[in-house]
Amino acid sequence: MSSLTDKDIKALQPKDHHYRVALGDGLFLWISSSGKKSWQYRYHVHSNNIRKEKIYTIGDFQQINLSHARELHATLRKEVLQGIDIQAVKVEKKKSYSTSQENAMQTTSTQPTVSNRRKFLTNMTQVMGGIGGIFALIPFLSSMSPSERAKSAGAPIEIDISSLQPGAYKVVEWRGKPVWVVRRTKKMIEDTLEDDEVLRDPQSVEEHQPEYTQNKFRSINPEYLVLLGVCTHLGCSPLYKPSPKSKELGLDWTGGFFCPCHGSKFDLSGRVHKGVPAPYNLEVPPYYFASDTRIIVGEDGENV
Ligand code: FES
Repeated sequence: MSSLTDKDIKALQPKDHHYRVALGDGLFLWISSSGKKSWQYRYHVHSNNIRKEKIYTIGDFQQINLSHARELHATLRKEVLQGIDIQAVKVEKKKSYSTSQENAMQTTSTQPTVSNRRKFLTNMTQVMGGIGGIFALIPFLSSMSPSERAKSAGAPIEIDISSLQPGAYKVVEWRGKPVWVVRRTKKMIEDTLEDDEVLRDPQSVEEHQPEYTQNKFRSINPEYLVLLGVCTHLGCSPLYKPSPKSKELGLDWTGGFFCPCHGSKFDLSGRVHKGVPAPYNLEVPPYYFASDTRIIVGEDGENV
C-alpha cells in the first residue's frame, strides 16, 4: 500500500461498514461508512508491564494530504518512542485552543455568525429549562415519504423533531443506514460526565464525529443527539437502553446503547465502554439545525 497516491485515496468508496487501508508503521486511513476519511496512527504503550494498543487520530484527509500525513506520522512515532503521551498532548492543545476561541468570541460579538450561534444557544438553554425528567419512548418513527426515501440514497435528509418528546428517540434512514435522533432529558444532560473510567475515548479524541460535535455530548446542542445507529464492531444496530440500573445490563449501567450481537455498550453520547468488542465511539454524521425543529443530516451547516 506504500504506492498509494492522493488520487487513489480520493477514489476509495465507502462500504457498508467502516474499513481501513494500512500504509505501514501503524499509519492507516480509516474510511467510515458515510465516506469520511481520516488518518490514524496505531501504536503501543507499556504500562505496568502490560502492552496496550492505542489509536491516535491525525486528521481528516480533506485537510491533510498523504505526504503531510506521513510527515505528521513520522513526528508522532518519534514522540511515542521518546515516551511522550501524544493523546494527552492533543487534549491539552484542544483545551487551550477552545479557551482562545472563547476569548476571540467575546471580543468579536458583532460578527453575525457568532451572534446567531449565541442566540441559538440561549434559546436552547431556555427550552432545556422547561424539560421534565421523564422517559417517553417512541422507538421507531421512520415514516418517510417516497421523495424522502429517494433522498436517503445519498443526499442530505431533513428530520422533523417538533414532536419528539424528552427521553424519546427517532430513527430515520440515510444512505441506507439508521440515523438516530435522541432528545435528551434534563437529567440525561446533567448526568453526562466529562470523563469516565468506564469509557474508552471519553474526550472523543478519535475522530468519529465532526469537529463541532467533539464534546462530551457529542452534539451541537446537548438536548439532541444525532448518531449513526451502526455498531463500530461489525455493524449491527444497537438498542436504545436509556434507563439506568437495568436488570439486563447491571446495576452500574447508566443508560445508553447496547449492541446484543456481541455485547458492546455505549453511553448516552454514543461513547464506547472499555473492554467490549466495539473499538470506537458510535459515529456522528455531519448535520446542522435548519431551525429549532428541523435537523439536516448529511452535510455541515454554513456556520461551522
Ligand atoms: S456488532 Fe455490535 S458488538 Fe459486535
